[in-house]
Amino acid sequence: MAISSHDFKLIKLGLAILTASKAFANPLPEQPKRRPEEPLNPGFETGNLQGWQVVHGNAFGDRSVTDLASYWGGPFYQDQKHFILGTAQDGESAVGELRSSSFRANSALSFLIGGGYDPDNLYVGLVRDRDGQLLLKQTGTNDEALIRIVWDTGKWSGQEVHVVIHDNSTKESWGHINFDDLRLGDAALGNGPGLTFQPIGQANQPPAHDQPACSLFAEDPLRPQYHYTQYQGWINDPAGLVQWKGRHHLFSQYYPAAPFWGPMYWSHAESPDAVHWRELPVALTPKPAEPGDESGRFTGSAMIHGDELHLVLTDYFDTRAHPDAVQENVIVASSSDGVNFTLSPQNPVIPAPPAGAPAFFRDPKVFHDPTDNSTKLVIGASNGERGQVQLYHAPASDPFSWSHVGVLYTGEEGTDALWECPNFFPLGDKWVLFYGSKALGVYETGTYNGSVFVSEKRGLVDAGPASYAMQWYKDESGRDLAISWMANWPTTKWPSRANGWAGQQSITRELFLRADGGLGSRPIAELDSLASGPARQLGPLQVSDEAVDIGNTNTARLKLTVDLGETSASSLTLSLFQSQAESTLLTYHTGNQTLTLDTTNAGYGQAGTWEAVLAKPADNKLTLDIFLDRSALEVFAGDGTVMSATVWPRYQESTGISVVGNQGTVALSAVSVTPLGSSWC
Ligand SMILES: *[C@@H]1O[C@H](CO)[C@@H](O)[C@H](O)[C@H]1NC(C)=O
Ligand SMILES: *[C@@H]1O[C@H](CO)[C@@H](O)[C@H](O)[C@H]1NC(C)=O
Ligand SMILES: *[C@@H]1O[C@H](CO)[C@@H](O)[C@H](O)[C@H]1NC(C)=O
Ligand SMILES: *[C@@H]1O[C@H](CO)[C@@H](O)[C@H](O)[C@H]1NC(C)=O
Ligand SMILES: *[C@@H]1O[C@H](CO)[C@@H](O)[C@H](O)[C@H]1NC(C)=O
Repeated sequence: MAISSHDFKLIKLGLAILTASKAFANPLPEQPKRRPEEPLNPGFETGNLQGWQVVHGNAFGDRSVTDLASYWGGPFYQDQKHFILGTAQDGESAVGELRSSSFRANSALSFLIGGGYDPDNLYVGLVRDRDGQLLLKQTGTNDEALIRIVWDTGKWSGQEVHVVIHDNSTKESWGHINFDDLRLGDAALGNGPGLTFQPIGQANQPPAHDQPACSLFAEDPLRPQYHYTQYQGWINDPAGLVQWKGRHHLFSQYYPAAPFWGPMYWSHAESPDAVHWRELPVALTPKPAEPGDESGRFTGSAMIHGDELHLVLTDYFDTRAHPDAVQENVIVASSSDGVNFTLSPQNPVIPAPPAGAPAFFRDPKVFHDPTDNSTKLVIGASNGERGQVQLYHAPASDPFSWSHVGVLYTGEEGTDALWECPNFFPLGDKWVLFYGSKALGVYETGTYNGSVFVSEKRGLVDAGPASYAMQWYKDESGRDLAISWMANWPTTKWPSRANGWAGQQSITRELFLRADGGLGSRPIAELDSLASGPARQLGPLQVSDEAVDIGNTNTARLKLTVDLGETSASSLTLSLFQSQAESTLLTYHTGNQTLTLDTTNAGYGQAGTWEAVLAKPADNKLTLDIFLDRSALEVFAGDGTVMSATVWPRYQESTGISVVGNQGTVALSAVSVTPLGSSWC
């Protein structure tokens, strides 16, 4: 925001007041005899706390105002030069409160916030002068970088208020709050007519009372409409995937109390088509725990036996709270109605890892083994140095009775010391093993003789940054389906935390064996039912160095066919989630068949580039099938490569889609943009 000469006068005025007030002990600076329309020094561009007052404590002082541009995780994204860095004055654990000068509330207020998540102890608050009432507050997201919070303050319009930056956290990690660029009125909503801020912030999260998920989720501008999310709280691994009595079941690792990992619950949803979901009651809750005990119900899988649906899962004990417990064992929960799950009195069904194996022992995945027509499970383990997959057998397919077969597979040197979420199943004439390692999903395809897997080929389950803990299941029609957690695991950049939720599941994918023996993914056919209107068809179309607009939506499916034989360009670039300020770029290099995703200027999310080398299409036609869903992006190439990312645009206008050819022309034989609706309607 540019400082106007009007603002500048106020800043000078603030300086005079501050100087005058130094003569007294510690009184509030006397307010100027004018209508306080605007807060003084709203972006700290004086380089100090002029116009602001340290109410108490030593968390804030003139050293808090910094012009540092970046930290270990990237840029701070402050406005102009200066901002408040909560650690700069006296470290993480210092406490205190800083308040702005008083001003008159009007239609809207916005500001930039960064730092720790702690709704009780770390927040920016709007306080009414008259009675000291805290009207609104917003905590951070455990990220240093600043994101824009927008508040509707219309109902207090005309009242005198001030902003507080409140830090009562003594924590040594994420015990601080960053702040910048307080704005009022139209300026709070965006940068001119062409760029309107996403209205992020817990105060914008619509209350859940009696609202169906369909409209509730539509109101949150960051919320995917057809990727599974939880209304509030955190989700990670998809679990217990199964089609049972016609209905698809999706459970997720879940922590309801905060948008962060915590003692694990299992949330539960069901669907007639693996596309449209209906929320069911939470299936599993952690055992009653003392504060700080992180024991919970970790990932597992579903098993149909007789007329019951069973969940076979990891029971995790936080050994700090339970020093005598085995850290991870396997338990079963059963249901006759697919809604109400009861823990078995026979638990644990596998009381400990096999003799000699370390404590890491998690995520049992049940599968049918056609080599001996039996029920088996694989489970993530370790030999202390490398990831390992252990194999168990259930005689007579009894979910409560498991015997150890042996080590199915051990990772090569250099792999992670623990593999998570292994899945193992036959596909075509091969066996597929996939697992989580080093925050990535890795697959291997090869052969299996009933007890040991031999790998022939290895690759990534998903070439993008946001995929982990994928789970496979076979549906009633025999298809091999999978859902993955759109994790973005290695980054702190999860702006949806400011709206109270974190984590989303991928769309349902169908797995297949690629021509080169690798694991391929394609969107399931049922996703066609999400179309909320007719597709916009373009092409055939020749595109050169002048970008061609092909759509304006962030909730859609975009399909392209490029005739490579007629294309002279060295690359083509698709710009998605695009406005004049930002975009997400997807580039295909014709020379080396490389697909590159670039989120360097995509908004608040993780900035980076990711690459995948695609197979050369036999018919010389490149096809891309792209799912855009507000903050989710999934790109499926015709060869079975998939790339997933979360994208968090800053501006509501970032919905453009365009294509450009670089150094030559691109022959697009077909382009279609289909608007998609909600999974919840
Ligand atoms: C700050 O935290 C302390 C201890 O955690 C608590 O006693 C005190 O009431 C808190 N103060 C405020 C203003 O929240
Ligand atoms: C869930 O199942 C258990 C065991 O069958 C039963 O005791 C309990 O009443 C059921 N709860 C509900 C809500 O149906
Ligand atoms: C496989 O085992 C099941 C029982 O577990 C049995 O009903 C089925 O006939 C068996 N199939 C074959 C091919 O042996
Ligand atoms: C499978 O292969 C392993 C390793 O070669 C061997 O030890 C094992 O006996 C084989 N099992 C069967 C059932 O053939
Ligand atoms: C493919 O070619 C592009 C353009 O020359 C280059 O930037 C990129 O690094 C190449 N990627 C691979 C995997 O070779």
